[in-house]
Amino acid sequence: MINHWDNMDGSIERGYAGRSLFFADNKISYDETRLCQYARLLASVGINALTINNVNVHHHETNLIRQHLLPDVARIAAIFRRYTIQLFLSVNFAAPIETGELATADPFDPQVVTWWQQRAEEIYQYIPDFGGYVVKADSEHRPGPFTYERTHADGANMLARSLAPYGGLLYWRCFVYNCQQKWYDRSTDRARAAWDHFAPQDGQFDDNVILQIKSGPMDFQVREPVSPLLGAMPHTNKVMELQITQEYTGQQIDLCWLVPQWKTILGFDTQPGRHDASIADILAGRCRQHSMRHSGVTAVVNTGDHPFWTGHPLAQANLYGYGRLIWDPEIDERLLAQEWCKLTLSDSPKTVDTVSQMLLSSWLVYESYTAPLGVGWMVQPHHHYGPAVDGYEYDSWGTYHYANRYGLGVDRTQNSGTGYVKQYHPLNCQMYNNPNRCPQELILFFHHLKYRHVLPSGKTVIQHIYDSHFNGVAQVEDYIQKWAELAADKNIPEDLFHEVQERLNRQLNNAEAWRDQVNTYFYRKSGIHDSRNRKIYP
Ligand code: GCU
Repeated sequence: MINHWDNMDGSIERGYAGRSLFFADNKISYDETRLCQYARLLASVGINALTINNVNVHHHETNLIRQHLLPDVARIAAIFRRYTIQLFLSVNFAAPIETGELATADPFDPQVVTWWQQRAEEIYQYIPDFGGYVVKADSEHRPGPFTYERTHADGANMLARSLAPYGGLLYWRCFVYNCQQKWYDRSTDRARAAWDHFAPQDGQFDDNVILQIKSGPMDFQVREPVSPLLGAMPHTNKVMELQITQEYTGQQIDLCWLVPQWKTILGFDTQPGRHDASIADILAGRCRQHSMRHSGVTAVVNTGDHPFWTGHPLAQANLYGYGRLIWDPEIDERLLAQEWCKLTLSDSPKTVDTVSQMLLSSWLVYESYTAPLGVGWMVQPHHHYGPAVDGYEYDSWGTYHYANRYGLGVDRTQNSGTGYVKQYHPLNCQMYNNPNRCPQELILFFHHLKYRHVLPSGKTVIQHIYDSHFNGVAQVEDYIQKWAELAADKNIPEDLFHEVQERLNRQLNNAEAWRDQVNTYFYRKSGIHDSRNRKIYP
């Protein structure tokens, strides 16, 4: 499945590839030819279902389930149906109120139940194979059952029951956390929130409810551990939500091929020793411990009306890779990168070799000049592009690095920390809990360490920060040079060549800004010099 975060005014939340393919001026508005091409494109990589509107369902979008808009929604559904892709809508939990028809959205109120039943009845008259709803409730100021002191299961089941007679499904997102916490409140850990809210409700959701769980416990950072909730709730349907759109990974200006990240996630073993409990096993329904009628993967997509579909032409490889990988998680990422290059750019061995190497290294390169060692969130607030080391440090979103003059990182350990590690299987808990066993790339996600702490690599934390930021910039310089050498390959369309070139130059500016700000920040905090004496602004 893919999720569009498109609004009816034509904007796309976290979209980096132009305007919506479905909406403009608060109306349904599309280019039929382009939409047919899009449906074919999605079908060609194995997509079966999509939502066309943002999970944040505002005023106009609330009406997508109303009779006056359903004929238009049905026309879009018909285009996708030709390619056997099922249409879903994101809905507003408070729709009965937002439309001015009822004074409450309480899931236990009989009028509310009837209201939703009527909506389903109408929708299925227009779209007999309508997929169902995706719901973001009690999350980042969106309304939900908490207003009426009802549980998530109460809210989700009420909606699911309205869809059940028609075979519809209800995707209920688990992105629920306190976004108004105090930055100095060390007892609240956002990473814990999804598990704390949902795990106790295992078995309470109806058969046609599917929990939609983000891949990590925070929010699509360049590096996070896998969400422990994906390995929990064995009696509840679950899908994992990924982000193809590059909100925190370079916004389709910087090159960042996410397949290696997704492969890491899919390969994570939720119960070491069982042999059938990797994330891929669970989501494919192969884990005997999880009894689920529905499972799978969904992702926030990266497309728009940009001539190259995804803004950065090489970002197309993310959508392509998503489709290919989730049907075949064992696939060799090298072959996948090469396959995309051959199909899309050129079959010249030099081009295939150069571009596939760029794709394959790009996630780690992006990580190296941005977030050190799993710490995350040092981005510019709101739009999330470019560095701002303290941008979220004194804010209410639960996203902190806790750097002081001695060290940085978040202590999520069992005894001294927030206890987040306990949400994992005991063997994984032990691994993350111990700084000598915790994977280095996640060490500051789980531990607050001194700048002089020696990492498994043999470097100190501070030297790792300096080195990785210098190396990251050098690698982007190398990309620019390698890409320039492909000018001779006449298979690469000229406009595409220049588009990539221009974005790589912007990526270099961004990488330099990250390097300089992060290095200076930690130099000023720690007072420790770079052992190789490179330029760090005092
Ligand atoms: C992130 C993102 C929001 C989005 C939210 C969600 O916080 O920045 O734009 O609405 O995730 O997934 O609901």
